[in-house]
Amino acid sequence: METFDIETFRSAAPYIYAHQGNVFVITIPNTMLESEHLSALVQDLALMQTLGIKLVLVYATGLFTKNRKKTLVIDNKKLIKLQHKIGELQSCLESLFSTGLINTPMAGMKLTTVSGNFVYAKPTGVVNGIDLQFHGEVRRVDTQAILNQLNNDNIVLLSSIGYSSSGECFYLDEYDVATTVAASIPSEKLIFLMDEKTLLNSRKQRIKFLTLSSAQALLSRRKTLSPSIRQYIEFAINACLNRVQRVHLLSTSVPGALLQELYSHDGAGTLVTAEQYDDIRPATIEDVGGIISLINPLEDQQVLVQRTREQIELEIHNYDVIEHDGFVIACGALHPLNEKNIAEIACLAVHPDYQKEGLGNRLLNHLEKKAWALNLNSVFVLTTKALHWFREHGYHKSSIQELPVSKQKTYNYQRNSRVYLKHCK
Ligand SMILES: CC(C)(COP(=O)(O)OP(=O)(O)OC[C@H]1O[C@@H](n2cnc3c(N)ncnc32)[C@H](O)[C@@H]1OP(=O)(O)O)[C@@H](O)C(=O)NCCC(=O)NCCS
Repeated sequence: METFDIETFRSAAPYIYAHQGNVFVITIPNTMLESEHLSALVQDLALMQTLGIKLVLVYATGLFTKNRKKTLVIDNKKLIKLQHKIGELQSCLESLFSTGLINTPMAGMKLTTVSGNFVYAKPTGVVNGIDLQFHGEVRRVDTQAILNQLNNDNIVLLSSIGYSSSGECFYLDEYDVATTVAASIPSEKLIFLMDEKTLLNSRKQRIKFLTLSSAQALLSRRKTLSPSIRQYIEFAINACLNRVQRVHLLSTSVPGALLQELYSHDGAGTLVTAEQYDDIRPATIEDVGGIISLINPLEDQQVLVQRTREQIELEIHNYDVIEHDGFVIACGALHPLNEKNIAEIACLAVHPDYQKEGLGNRLLNHLEKKAWALNLNSVFVLTTKALHWFREHGYHKSSIQELPVSKQKTYNYQRNSRVYLKHCK
């Protein structure tokens, strides 16, 4: 008997609620449009629409993309080829969105797609003495017309063609179309479906999250990235620079990637965001669950000492946290001791997806400032793994004998943590 995964369904509830009524602009690469997996993608899109997401889909023709960075002449012949291709792809998408047979995932659904002259173009003109003819650039987007369609529960289909006030058609880069539309209408997300593998770090783990600056740093640091994935990262950076707040890079090789990314905490791709992290703030009793989820894996690996929920609850006023998207992504505590004008900095942790972004540094500085504001003379840490990290932050090796007596009494000799100390300047 097939099992219904009720826990997964329940855990999706907050995401269903959060995405309802939001506009998502999604690009579909041509390889996907011509693959056998297209109907599965359309079923997922149909489900998203049914769950209240307003969809703008920008589909790629796959024509002229090899010359994306170069200037390309689009003559009359190429323009006609483009128009034919767009007609073909549009009718293919329209027919798939009309599926409603019983015993299929779209049974009973009534979805309407619309396309039209929503994107205005201007000619690119003459470049290096060459007239690019029907090669164009996005001039403006009729945002109100798109919003009207979305508010009528229609799915908007856009292609790489734009229209000029002179009544002509121009070829547009579909990624420019998607970015301009996402930046012009109040859209929540721009999602690039990639005909590329998921973006991995040097340890072959998925990069789940990148800020704009870390995406830029990745491009200049990782010379081994394939030209295609570099291009997608460049699209994401360009979109963030154009005021799109959240860009997702999702591989079409992952089945159901869209649903996983949008309706699970773990996701399936990489989120590139122009948003800054929330500020450091004092933790409250509501953060205890989030702190425990963050530090539990580190306790299991014996990187951090075990703490009970009760202990954290009792000391919660000593904790500070950084929250992102409703999750605690970093925490740290300053425990002042009654003797020696000294405090312990403890339980400093940054979620692995958000490390190397300077959050650890920011939290440590914040906890130290709190200590100096309390007129304490010094702070210490007990650490087994981050010795060098603390050394690089001005801590020097100390000994158990230099700790306050109360701390010496509870020191765990089996754990054998190193003591590192920093004095107020
Ligand atoms: C230590 C920790 C808090 C740093 O957080 P972070 O947000 O990644 O820190 P920053 O971004 O400010 O600094 C990142 C730099 O520190 C380095 N770093 C991280 N952990 C390190 C360690 N254990 N030893 C030496 N350097 C380390 C990183 O390699 C990076 O340097 P690089 O960019 O030159 O490679 C984080 O790695 C963590 O949560 N570790 C597990 C918990 C822990 O050990 N806590 C300390 C005991 S209380």
